[in-house]
Amino acid sequence: MKKPIKKIGVITSGGDAPGMNAAIRAVVRACAYYKIKCIGFYRGYQGMIDGDYIEMDARSVKNIISAGGTVLQSARSQEFRTKAGRKKAFESLKKAEVDGLILIGGDGTFTGGVVFGKEFDIPFVGIPGTIDNDIAGTTSTIGYDTALNTVVEAIDKIRDTASSHNRLFFIEVMGRDAGFIALNAGVGAGAEEILIPEEDLGLDRLLESLKRSKRSGKTSSIVVVSEGDKIGKNVFELAEYVKEHLPEYEARVSVLGHMQRGGNPTCFDRVLASKMGVKAVEFLLDGESNVMVGFVNGKILTTNIEDAIKREHEINKELLRISDILSI
Ligand code: F6P
Repeated sequence: MKKPIKKIGVITSGGDAPGMNAAIRAVVRACAYYKIKCIGFYRGYQGMIDGDYIEMDARSVKNIISAGGTVLQSARSQEFRTKAGRKKAFESLKKAEVDGLILIGGDGTFTGGVVFGKEFDIPFVGIPGTIDNDIAGTTSTIGYDTALNTVVEAIDKIRDTASSHNRLFFIEVMGRDAGFIALNAGVGAGAEEILIPEEDLGLDRLLESLKRSKRSGKTSSIVVVSEGDKIGKNVFELAEYVKEHLPEYEARVSVLGHMQRGGNPTCFDRVLASKMGVKAVEFLLDGESNVMVGFVNGKILTTNIEDAIKREHEINKELLRISDILSI
């Protein structure tokens, strides 16, 4: 028979994402509601290894729903990649009398959780938190919507200066190997071209498209480049290449970087995190393990966590076609 859950441990791990605090709050308050104890480990798996945690009650998470970052801090623990590190983590969980875990993070976090769950007897539920939106089994990860809005706002501002100087801007956005941020923020900000890893536009087509823009009377242009794009050149090389082949363009580069991970979460991310946090606790109490909660067709459902990591979260390439039509 499964051990009843009396105490839950929660971590945030990997790249932080806006809305992680709202998820922590939801987990802690759901635990309080169901009268079970909750502790939060600092710095993800590293805090589990070091036994560095804090007891969390309903009041300890006041006023964090609106805050960016994560009050539990985050890390990509190298020690947890070793068997010895994971053994230490399990021993510290036993010492703290933790019966179940909630892991808030992205695919690296979940990969760690799967290995840990196979080696040691501890149930766990994952909550997808990453700006990249690169996890299958959920249409949206916590932090993605906020990052999109941050990127759109940044591109709008760059557009102001681009049009004042008749310039072409290459704007690099995050997303690791996935183009969700680039594609959706690119459409939202009316970019002329969007380069994503899932579709190789090719250098010739890019030049052709920029020539067409000039011919159609456009005086400034925005090309959004996903950091994982496979065109074969980084964003600076790309700008140089275009300057060489189309000297009529005055090109500039802007790399948005880590500002995309910060800021107050949007209402969408707060609500998503609130739902996912409560449901993660309920699923764990119902005896589920090795699953991730996901937002699918308006409902919070579970997916096998290995499936969520292995399966590709498919991007909607139809949006590229829409973007082509709209950037005429
Ligand atoms: O996974 C989130 C993310 O921001 C990616 O978009 C990016 O590639 C990576 O993390 C950057 O990681 P770090 O903050 O460790 O440089």
